[in-house]
Amino acid sequence: MSQKILVTGGAGYIGSHTSVVLQNSGYDVHIIDNLANASPDVVNNIAKITGIEPTFTNLDLCDADALHAYFLKHQHFAGVIHFAAHKSVSESARKPLHYYHNNLLGLINILEEMGRTDCRNLVFSSSCTVYGQPDHLPVAEDAPLKKAASPYGNTKKICEDIITDQAANKQVRAISLRYFNPTGAHDSACIGEMPMDTPNNLVPYLTQTSIGKREQLRVFGSDYNTPDGSGIRDYIHVMDLANAHLSALERLSEKRNEKNPEVFNLGTGQGYSVLDVIWTFERVTGVKVNYTIAQRRPGDIEKVWADPSRANKALNWHTRYSLEEMLESAWIWELTMKAKQETPQQ
Ligand code: UFG
Repeated sequence: MSQKILVTGGAGYIGSHTSVVLQNSGYDVHIIDNLANASPDVVNNIAKITGIEPTFTNLDLCDADALHAYFLKHQHFAGVIHFAAHKSVSESARKPLHYYHNNLLGLINILEEMGRTDCRNLVFSSSCTVYGQPDHLPVAEDAPLKKAASPYGNTKKICEDIITDQAANKQVRAISLRYFNPTGAHDSACIGEMPMDTPNNLVPYLTQTSIGKREQLRVFGSDYNTPDGSGIRDYIHVMDLANAHLSALERLSEKRNEKNPEVFNLGTGQGYSVLDVIWTFERVTGVKVNYTIAQRRPGDIEKVWADPSRANKALNWHTRYSLEEMLESAWIWELTMKAKQETPQQ
């Protein structure tokens, strides 16, 4: 019998790609998602890729009673991969309580139910935002964590702390994965990033500008201490990220973890500037990007890229996709979404 895995937020961007990877590896995937920032079509699109319909439940993790009833019904998950959370840096500054309430309570409720049902293995979706602007680059996991630049970033840091305290009580065996900048889409172009509102992130803003949905991309800052003056990030293909979740889950189920919790950086180890991204996009797609140089965006850091060597070794995981491939797949996904919108519904 295949192992049952609960994926919270499995209809979202990284959750859907991870669900595909898990299904392709023989896991029985159960998704819960309140569809606050995802489309119900995603579940069908996962099934299109894998040939298997994941079990889907529309549920808000903050509804403790509903979650309790769900766990009573679906008992005995071999593990939980917890993605469900709000993720906009700018929105979190406008609605801090909304972010603390949703992101912290969601995790607490999941941990309560895991404890009650003796489900031990948790993979948690964290972020490189916990490092702020690191003193040394590339940044490794043991670098000091800086004061979070946003309520969103602080929720990730507090969630990691909650997991550490719960793990100290041997209530959970956990791995927190600190993502750098996820981008790209599945090769099938059946799933990808689907911002519901105006995107905050560079790559969806770039593809939406290039397809004509947005007028102009602004490059936030040209006076950073970087070779071309624009900010540097470590972009990582979403399928590389998804594969790391599988490795983390296997490490926990086989009790190969060396500490509890463990923390891993998920990045390529290579930084690219905003202008590198724009010019690479233009080169691989042949599409000219309408962009302008603008003021720095408040709260942005100058540069960050990962030292992924701990994940490379412990998870036996390496990134496979280049920046070119990330941007090409993001563009094909944008074109596919446009074509779907233009096709009259049968
Ligand atoms: N950028 C632009 N123009 C845009 C959008 C972004 O120039 O329209 C620049 C940013 O200034 C930055 C780079 O592109 O230099 C990447 O910005 P993103 O918004 O795509 O990503 P961030 O690095 O700001 O944010 C990511 C994650 C967050 C996380 C944060 C921590 O998306 O979840 O890293 O730094 F909190």
